[in-house]
Amino acid sequence: MIEYRPLRVALLGAGSVGAQVARLLTENKVELAARVGAELELVGIAVRDLSVERPGVPAHLLTTDAESLILGADIVIEVMGGIEPARTYILQALTSGADVITANKALLATHGPEIFDLAEQVGAQLYFEASVGGAIPIIRPLRESLAGDKVNRIMGIVNGTTNYILDRMNSTGASFESALQEAQDLGYAEADPTADIEAYDAAQKAAILASLAFHTEVPLEKVYREGITKITQAQMEAARRDGLVIKLLAICEKIAATETEPEGISVRVYPALIPLEHPLASVRGAFNAVFVEAEAAGQLMFYGAGAGGTQTASAILGDLVSAAKRHVAGGPGLADSVHAEFETLGIDRVFTQYQITIEVTDQPGVLAQVANIFSAHGVSIETVEQMARVRDGKRTGTATLEVGTHRATDAALSTVVEVLRATDAVEEITSVIRVEGV
Ligand code: NDP
Ligand code: HSE
Repeated sequence: MIEYRPLRVALLGAGSVGAQVARLLTENKVELAARVGAELELVGIAVRDLSVERPGVPAHLLTTDAESLILGADIVIEVMGGIEPARTYILQALTSGADVITANKALLATHGPEIFDLAEQVGAQLYFEASVGGAIPIIRPLRESLAGDKVNRIMGIVNGTTNYILDRMNSTGASFESALQEAQDLGYAEADPTADIEAYDAAQKAAILASLAFHTEVPLEKVYREGITKITQAQMEAARRDGLVIKLLAICEKIAATETEPEGISVRVYPALIPLEHPLASVRGAFNAVFVEAEAAGQLMFYGAGAGGTQTASAILGDLVSAAKRHVAGGPGLADSVHAEFETLGIDRVFTQYQITIEVTDQPGVLAQVANIFSAHGVSIETVEQMARVRDGKRTGTATLEVGTHRATDAALSTVVEVLRATDAVEEITSVIRVEGV
């Protein structure tokens, strides 16, 4: 039954996501009102340029005056992206008593504490399901469903653009550039795709996930990050030969104390090899998936569309229904606790496996020399494959060594790579890539 006054909803942005939010809000108006117990009235849509054609977006609602729109709203949906003016608008909305829904991981990962603190102070609610994993419900499970459990590890594919690029390069032999262009045309990529391909976007999402999972603040600058721009077709071919595939992974985990070092958390994003039989290996296209390992719940996997206007709009509308119901029912917003104060540790504290491809001179003793470098730094070799290089039917006098290691600290592994690079018998190191999920 609808007894409550209509709730005024302001939409900031009408791009890939915003246009779909506007469409779904309009098309599903009656059903949404029945679910909430109040009508959701879209009162305006802020954009930069009023002259742009926007099929399906009610033209009479468009405005460039975001500030006036915010002041009269009960709920503000921010899907503009970027830091400013999105940050100022969100702070204004919260100050004026509105609940805020945002998909803006860049903003939350850099200014989260400021925004969350203000929301708590004024008793408003901040919802951000769409900020990680597009349509996949992952924020609410971490924020609410697992709030009584202890999360130990998260490993996921959280960027649709890079997963799309890697998948197209691997399955069709597409070039990096053409796969990126396709991802941009499909509306998956950020306004500046550097955010995707250099893994800034995935790092921001990892920071948000880790902060919720470990109840602690995670400074974005402490998230270790490597993008996918250096991944080559040769690395993909080698991976296929070995029954592996390359994925850009976001990993958040607790790291135990050592005799000399404190416990903490590691939050990192890098391309890594995973076995083809690993569930994350079958995540294709722009899909995302997040594995969560919790003490009592065990292993959980969340899978679905990680990007795309309509898909992301679904997560926004879910948040909108929650926010609207809270208005109808009354009561303050729920704050997230960041009491744990875990230190975000450097990559050197992480235990991982490497696969290293080395071009060496094909002479007696070279293999032993290489093996000694690994053992001198406490890194145990798991597999070695040697292939003599042949050009025009003749041996070139060089060989390719593919070395797989057991788990060791990242610090020890990078020292091994450094020493190998300075070794005369090593002509070139053509690939250094971590291995996860084995
Ligand atoms: P777009 O670039 O497609 O759209 C941005 C919209 O915001 C445009 O309508 C733009 O107006 C408007 N805008 C930008 N700056 C201003 C400003 N200063 N004042 C008023 N309006 C402004 O972005 P997306 O829709 O792709 O992304 C929006 C947010 O959602 C981002 O935070 C993104 O990270 C996040 N996100 C995106 C996903 C996706 O698949 N695309 C998935 C998950 C999250 P105009 O059209 O006039 O330029
Ligand atoms: N550019 C992002 C991606 C959008 O490709 O995953 C979803 O956050």
